Amino acid sequence: MRTPFVAANWKMHKTVAEATAYAAAFRARMETIRAAEVVVAPPFTALHAVAAALDGSPVGVAGQNLHSAPQGAYTGEVSAGMLREAGAGYVIIGHSERRQLFGETDAGVNAKLHAALGAGLVPIVCVGETLDERDSGRMFQVLNRQIAGGLADVELEAAGSVVVAYEPVWAIGTGRNALPAQAQEAHAHIRQRIARALDADGAAACRIIYGGSVKPANAGALAAEPDVDGALVGGAGLDPDSFAEIVAQNAAAAV
Ligand code: 13P
Repeated sequence: MRTPFVAANWKMHKTVAEATAYAAAFRARMETIRAAEVVVAPPFTALHAVAAALDGSPVGVAGQNLHSAPQGAYTGEVSAGMLREAGAGYVIIGHSERRQLFGETDAGVNAKLHAALGAGLVPIVCVGETLDERDSGRMFQVLNRQIAGGLADVELEAAGSVVVAYEPVWAIGTGRNALPAQAQEAHAHIRQRIARALDADGAAACRIIYGGSVKPANAGALAAEPDVDGALVGGAGLDPDSFAEIVAQNAAAAV
């Protein structure tokens, strides 16, 4: 039985003041939630303040990106160790916005994954096809490439701590979520490819979460699918009440 994993990716939203106000409201809503692992991913500037505001609560904090090197002359970049020290326990890697807008590759994702694991951060590795890739019948091929490249050389002991997020690009910020059956089809395929890249036990333990226009109205139906182990939420994760509702639906689906 995999514990549901639900994360809010705030992207480039919220000042420190806005982020800490959210954290105070959200932690109060999470006091009764035990059946899910819950994480928020603020922008770097608010990470430390949010971690302090959530200290002692069950809610974890994630970075939205990292550099694979421990330190160095990389203007504008942040390392795994810096994220840890600022209070993060998790980091999102290879989000489609980073792949599409900032040129991230599967090899780069893999380097970041190893840096994260080496520093004790739980990586949330994003994969997913574009509409063009889906419509032209290349979805499985793209997912295979992203899994094989992104998860290359992961130690078996680390496999259970890796979270994979299936985020079809056509569903992100569009209001058009994957249908539960479409998500299930992709998640089952991803789990099979993880088994091939790692091993069957690692694949069975790995949480595969769905992202792309998750809202309180569709979260329960998505979470009910057997290979959907949680959600990575963008827009609806910016409001503490709607994110809390999505968490509650994922927790309910697990019991
Ligand atoms: P939306 O929930 O806004 O579609 O964003 C999904 C996403 O990209 C989460 O990482």
